[in-house]
Amino acid sequence: MEDKYLIKGGTRLNGSVCISGSKNASLPLLAASLLTADKCVIKGVPHLLDTSNMMKMLSGLGAQVSFQGSQVAIHARDIRETGQLYQYARKMRASCLLLGPLLVRTGEACLPLPGGCAIGSRPVDLHLKGLAALGAEFVADKGHIRATARKLTGSEVSLSYPSVGATENIMMTAAAAQGCTTIINAAAEPEIVDLANFLNKMGARVSGAGTQIIQVEGNPDLHGAVHTAIPDRIEAGTYLIAAAATGGHVRIKNVIPDHLRSVLDKLQEAGVPIKEGTGELTVGPSKELRPLQITTEPYPGFPTDLQPQFAALLATVPGASTITETVFENRFLYLDFLRRMGAQIHVNGPLAVIKGVERLSPAQVEATDLRAGAALVIAALKTPGETEIGEIYHLDRGYEDMEGKLSSLGACVRRVTKQAANL
Ligand code: EPZ
Repeated sequence: MEDKYLIKGGTRLNGSVCISGSKNASLPLLAASLLTADKCVIKGVPHLLDTSNMMKMLSGLGAQVSFQGSQVAIHARDIRETGQLYQYARKMRASCLLLGPLLVRTGEACLPLPGGCAIGSRPVDLHLKGLAALGAEFVADKGHIRATARKLTGSEVSLSYPSVGATENIMMTAAAAQGCTTIINAAAEPEIVDLANFLNKMGARVSGAGTQIIQVEGNPDLHGAVHTAIPDRIEAGTYLIAAAATGGHVRIKNVIPDHLRSVLDKLQEAGVPIKEGTGELTVGPSKELRPLQITTEPYPGFPTDLQPQFAALLATVPGASTITETVFENRFLYLDFLRRMGAQIHVNGPLAVIKGVERLSPAQVEATDLRAGAALVIAALKTPGETEIGEIYHLDRGYEDMEGKLSSLGACVRRVTKQAANL
């Protein structure tokens, strides 16, 4: 169903919005629940296409999964590698997070090689290298990865790049392996710390999460645990930027300001007034903003997942701003659609130079990935007239009830489903 948004922009966002649990924390937490035959409960899980697909994959492997409100109970008592994963795994790269837990529980795993996507080729070589160091063997077989592991033993793994997913896969596998594992050049994102906290509740002994060196003392008898996912820092950043872009006054609740330090610094550098409270942030009405130079980096650097949203903000900031994307090799596809709205942006490899224009114009555009879609929503919200955004299933992957939250802030957002449009 190709739903689309019709957004009548040009009004300031005002009011308060509550941030959901983190998609990028929930996905590894759900995968980690496979590591034990006991029941686990994960709270604060957002209703998204991605979390729903992960739960379908867990059920397809034989786990009992129930989702009430934002609480997921998973009981992976009997797990069988059924090869049923393909239909869901194709749609979601995070399915590769099941590799480690499946090797722990069944000694084998067969997952489709994750395809490329709009932001790059998305290889999994660092995942495989790390799991191989713990004793796994892999065969690439007709677009699938067939993995086996007779025994998983702790080891030292040095990552050539601080990959979030590879760090998570290695940490989950090491948590149940015999002996100690050291992960060098590990990713330090808040979602890694959240996963480490859950693994420790399950009986593992993980230390150093949030730094570049993570130590894991494995425990082959991990037990069930209850855990609440951290708030979604990227959703929070998206609403911060939307508020700033429309010159609105918005209170953002259920957020951990420290998880957004680099983003808050950049917004304040641009002249956006932001007040920090306990678990919340308030964006004040902003007058003329100043241009910025942004470079995306692994955490705690500026997050690549908020790069497109910043481009939408900077498109109408007087002066020349630059965005250098260092994490993904191709995360500027969405700029074509901002240009269709009148943005003046020149790209040279990893560098985008944005020349601020007076205002954008409404147009028909399409989301090319989750955060690109968010950028187009922000551009539409601040542009007088009606903008149509197609392919918004990308947004449904990562933003819980976006139209509801935006409407409660005074935005004029309407979702049109294809059938209705054909009537
Ligand atoms: C996670 O993806 C996030 N997804 C991404 O968010 C986020 O953009 C990314 O981390 C970077 O912060 C989830 O957590 C579910 P990586 P992941 O492995 O783990 C290369 C969103 O919008 N690489 O840190 O896939 C890779 O190609 C999504 O919510 C290898 O070369 O990211 C990329 O260039 C988008 N080999 C870079 O590392 C590997 O084996 C970062 O990838 C793995 C990664």
